[in-house]
Amino acid sequence: MKLWSGRFEDDTDKLVEEFNASIGFDYKLYKYDIEGSIAHAKMLAKCDIITETDKNKIIAGLEEILSEIEEGEFEFSVELEDIHMNIEHKLTEKIGSVGGKLHTARSRNDQVALDIRLYLRDQIKQVQGLLQQLQDVLLSLGEEHIDIIMPGYTHLQRAQPIRLAHHLVAYQQKLKRDYERLEDCYQRVNVLPLGSGALAGTKFDIDREFVAQELEFNSVSQNSLDAVSERDFVIEFLSAASTIMMHLSRFSEELILWSSSEFDFIEISDAFCTGSSIMPQKKNPDIPELIRGKTGRVYGHLMQLLTTMKGLPLAYNKDMQEDKEGLFDTVDTLKKTLELMARMLNNTEFKKDNMKESTERGFVNATDVADYLVDNGIPFREAHEIVGKAVLYCDKHNKKLAELSLNKWQEFSDVFSSDIYDAITIENCVDARDTIGGPAKKEVLKVIQEEKELVTSE
Ligand code: ARG
Repeated sequence: MKLWSGRFEDDTDKLVEEFNASIGFDYKLYKYDIEGSIAHAKMLAKCDIITETDKNKIIAGLEEILSEIEEGEFEFSVELEDIHMNIEHKLTEKIGSVGGKLHTARSRNDQVALDIRLYLRDQIKQVQGLLQQLQDVLLSLGEEHIDIIMPGYTHLQRAQPIRLAHHLVAYQQKLKRDYERLEDCYQRVNVLPLGSGALAGTKFDIDREFVAQELEFNSVSQNSLDAVSERDFVIEFLSAASTIMMHLSRFSEELILWSSSEFDFIEISDAFCTGSSIMPQKKNPDIPELIRGKTGRVYGHLMQLLTTMKGLPLAYNKDMQEDKEGLFDTVDTLKKTLELMARMLNNTEFKKDNMKESTERGFVNATDVADYLVDNGIPFREAHEIVGKAVLYCDKHNKKLAELSLNKWQEFSDVFSSDIYDAITIENCVDARDTIGGPAKKEVLKVIQEEKELVTSE
């Protein structure tokens, strides 16, 4: 039954068969494997390596297999090891010995490299679509809540007031770069490895450019040994995926903090939370927690493949079969995470009053007092010292800066006059920061408009 049985006298050990097989996971490649085989068969006929009749039989057989798999009627067999041999064996069962011609000028080594590239091309586009969707949600929420002011943090200490929209657009910008990283990765995935054979190409007079055109590859690999021994494009994808997860994990961490009673900035909809089996009052933010948790799992897949590849002599080694499960799991995790994040955000209430109130404490306008002094001719370092003393005074007397009397201000510096109050209202503190990329309302709205156009035109 085995496609390589000729050289063997003894049967394969049952445990070896199970250990060796990849069909349990690489069945996911069936569509790409068939697509690649059809292009290969067309090329073999075009180059007069097989006849037109043989080609037609092969293609018809492959198409039948495709629909059988899609209908759930195909029985995958562990004895046939992987998706490539399962399909080829079935083809021969269907169309007879002609099926055996399909593997001419091809090896499973260049075949599997092709399948992963076809799979990844498809998946990258899907992930990119989800990244755009999430960017769009962030931009729309920013626009909708443009008037919500909140504290911005450094060291998780209140630092300066910003807009919620500014915070949301910060993540949109991160995701935009993630999109670009995938776009860049796509260029290197989009190279045809088929025609590299097992490692040393083939003697048959094949037409690789034709196959590349059929499968819409941008170029053809230039070294057969490289093409069958390399998985750097998977590593690159896993790295881009890890970066996306890292970004979503940071955001999740904030959503978890913001939904705590200590912050009380947001209310995530019940549909995205769970309860406790013992504490009746609990509503837990499991989804952002799981996103944060699954980030570790995706990093793990990146580390695993880097480690798997690091000691392999050229060209193909069976170790490389270990490239798939982590990749598939990464793609599934990433897609679900992106989709859930978008849906959860659309079902989250942002508590405007609590966020604003939070800017009233923590002296988030202290920098603005220092800037006021600078505007009145005091060098910044001296201004910093003066305001530090004012903050210390307020802290000791349980006052806000805005509550100091003019007399008190003037004890700290005689340049203070009554316009200090207007200069340090929270709204003015935010809107005076109107440099490119700043949190001022008109600046944030401008960025949102520009980015919205970009996201929808891509
Ligand atoms: N199932 C194998 C893999 O995923 C396909 C390639 C096998 N090639 C070989 N020479 N044994 O890597």
